[in-house]
Amino acid sequence: MATSDLAIVLGASGGIGRALAEQLSARQHVVALSRRRPEGWPDAAGRIWLPADILDEASLAEAATRIAGMGEASRIVVATGRLGLRPEKSTQALTLDALAEAFAINAAGPALVAKHLLRLTPRDRPSVFAALSARVGSIGDNRLGGWHAYRASKAALNMLVHTIAIEHRRTRKLGICVTLHPGTVDTGLSKPFQAGVADGRLFTPARSATALLSVIDGLGPDDNGGFYAWDGTAIPW
Ligand SMILES: NC(=O)c1ccc[n+]([C@@H]2O[C@H](COP(=O)([O-])OP(=O)(O)OC[C@H]3O[C@@H](n4cnc5c(N)ncnc54)[C@H](OP(=O)(O)O)[C@@H]3O)[C@@H](O)[C@H]2O)c1
Repeated sequence: MATSDLAIVLGASGGIGRALAEQLSARQHVVALSRRRPEGWPDAAGRIWLPADILDEASLAEAATRIAGMGEASRIVVATGRLGLRPEKSTQALTLDALAEAFAINAAGPALVAKHLLRLTPRDRPSVFAALSARVGSIGDNRLGGWHAYRASKAALNMLVHTIAIEHRRTRKLGICVTLHPGTVDTGLSKPFQAGVADGRLFTPARSATALLSVIDGLGPDDNGGFYAWDGTAIPW
């Protein structure tokens, strides 16, 4: 494990982010970034925590400067996000506040992470920047409606990462940027909405993290800019 080879996990205090940080730490040094220190994540050899709020560019810039002194990041995973307790069931429920909050946290935040942290990826080795999106952000797959703000914010995230991926490739020939759907996962975010989930389809965070890391490991140059599910299948835009 070379000291200079880092994984960075944003949202490491969350359900999936915590599991990703844990599993990655068995393979490489991990810098966990979150607003509060993840539970059970003391500073130890190969495990670092730095404070960062994805909506506070100064905190991202500060974290990037500190990480630059530690090494290069071959994996950056953005596992932040917010669904809210009452996602809309109808157009009449839309509010500017809820729309703005969803777009800020789910779309703008991860794009600002890319703005500040992509410079930490190596120029001469493969690297992956993966932001957790959601299948419900697929326009082509949307047959049920509802959850307007969350869906639209994830569709916006997919477009932002696709756009960033094209630009990133100009300076990082081996750099890959993607969005990933983690499956339906038993975390605080999904807790109020788990009733209708079919047997065997509610993943533990560890199960989802293992699947996501397997997808990340299997990505090749042609996958740059894509939107993939936990099992590696491409999701329609
Ligand atoms: N769980 C599912 O079934 C499911 C399904 C599809 C997609 N996803 C996506 O997977 C990702 C992870 O979700 P999860 O289920 O692990 O949710 P979670 O347990 O609620 O974790 C969400 C994480 O986002 C962080 N966060 C929110 N706003 C932030 C901000 N401004 N700055 C920094 N961190 C911020 C939270 O930090 P704090 O602890 O500081 O609040 C927390 O670490 C999300 O993008 C979600 O949309 C989840």
